[in-house]
Amino acid sequence: MSEESIQILAVDDSPATLEVIARHLRGAGYTVFTCGSVEEAGTFLDEHSVDLVITDYKMPHSTGLDLIRYVRDHFKDTEIIMITGYPSIAGAVEAIRDGAGEYLAKPFTGEELLTVVAKIIDTQARRRLAQTEALDLSSYGIIGQSPDMLQVFSLIKKASQTNANVFISGESGTGKELVARAVHYNSDRRASAFVPVNCTAIPDTLLESELFGHVKGAFTGAKESRAGFFEIANGGTIFLDEIGDASLNLQGKLLRVMQSKEFCMVGSSRTRTVDTRIIAATHKDLRQLVDQGLFREDLYYRIHVLEIYIPPLHSRGDDIMALAMHFLQKFATEMNRPVPSFSDEALVALTQYAWPGNVRELENLVQRLVVISDEPVIEVRDLPEVMRFSIGRDRFGEKTLAEVEAEHIRYILARTGDNKSRAAEILGIDRKTLREKIKRLG
Ligand SMILES: Nc1ncnc2c1ncn2[C@@H]1O[C@H](COP(=O)(O)OP(=O)(O)OP(=O)(O)O)[C@@H](O)[C@H]1O
Ligand SMILES: [Mg+2]
Repeated sequence: MSEESIQILAVDDSPATLEVIARHLRGAGYTVFTCGSVEEAGTFLDEHSVDLVITDYKMPHSTGLDLIRYVRDHFKDTEIIMITGYPSIAGAVEAIRDGAGEYLAKPFTGEELLTVVAKIIDTQARRRLAQTEALDLSSYGIIGQSPDMLQVFSLIKKASQTNANVFISGESGTGKELVARAVHYNSDRRASAFVPVNCTAIPDTLLESELFGHVKGAFTGAKESRAGFFEIANGGTIFLDEIGDASLNLQGKLLRVMQSKEFCMVGSSRTRTVDTRIIAATHKDLRQLVDQGLFREDLYYRIHVLEIYIPPLHSRGDDIMALAMHFLQKFATEMNRPVPSFSDEALVALTQYAWPGNVRELENLVQRLVVISDEPVIEVRDLPEVMRFSIGRDRFGEKTLAEVEAEHIRYILARTGDNKSRAAEILGIDRKTLREKIKRLG
């Protein structure tokens, strides 16, 4: 975006200050409008859309805070910078809470002003970009704004535009199936089937018939011909879920059909050709399985053309909050209830919890909370104990090493449900040492 196309409204009751601000900004190439009061600014904004509002805090009649609230309520995409000659922490906190992105204390130099403006315009541009990317995928129900998820979104896009085999990795509950569906439904295969196949669940005896189908009379009980997964997914996508659990027998069959794009139905010698896109997923470390001889290396390379790795939820920061809100809305609506909210402390607890079950665990928790709570606000005490424990875990303050150690041991014990072997493993000490420490702690 060029500077001239960026529109800025400056609001100040002092014509001299307005003049200085406008001069600096115009000097940098921005398009600048000025207003002498909050009322005037409100009228102006109703008719012009601007990218950024720079407002003075202290003005006669109504203050800059009123303007911030007005802009936040009516123009979600407009950024705000608050200027004040009365620097006060409280004022700044209030301004930021009410939606001012930045805070500039008088007196400031032209350079300081331009630095803050450039920074906020840059953030805005990134957010807008992220929103357009997220918008494309929102219909597939994937929530996420963290840099990690934006990366996942862009890989989904890339994968949708090719026919390459895709491998999706990530811990259990991170959304692998959701991503696989998004790739299929974004691709030009969307009119044909998306066929999920759970590699764990197919008994070896039925393998061939399940994958490739059978003709009538192929074996006892085969009263009708039946199409297999590959045939059903012809023109579409086959999703090989839990590929890490595929038996060597299954791996061999998959490899063959991937190489030749051909197969025979059970009981028939006629080869059939299929055009099926393959997406595979597992929460296991496939490379390690290859090294252990449990997974064929040739198959590994074949499915690994494009990898989409979904990081664990706890490392995705803001996504936890966004997902929590999303699920609240979803379940409350489903159950025909008013949508509750989380208290600030409850949100902190959610963002600090480790989420070993990832998004699935969060989804289940929120569903339970919506079912059991009839209060409009969900408080920390409504959360499971393991989550309450995690509050403030990054603020050890003035504690001694011994205190921190004790607290951490208690936390891990609570998280593991008092499973001492598991706790010792996480803490990296043997069980005997852990027992001694617990005894000392009482
Ligand atoms: N980013 C997300 N936005 C919204 N819902 C999500 C997201 N990620 C996961 N979910 C939801 O979480 C649940 C688990 O997701 P999914 O089944 O895709 O995980 P998975 O990685 O395949 O897990 P597993 O390895 O256990 O099979 C689903 O209900 C899914 O809809
Ligand atoms: Mg899955």
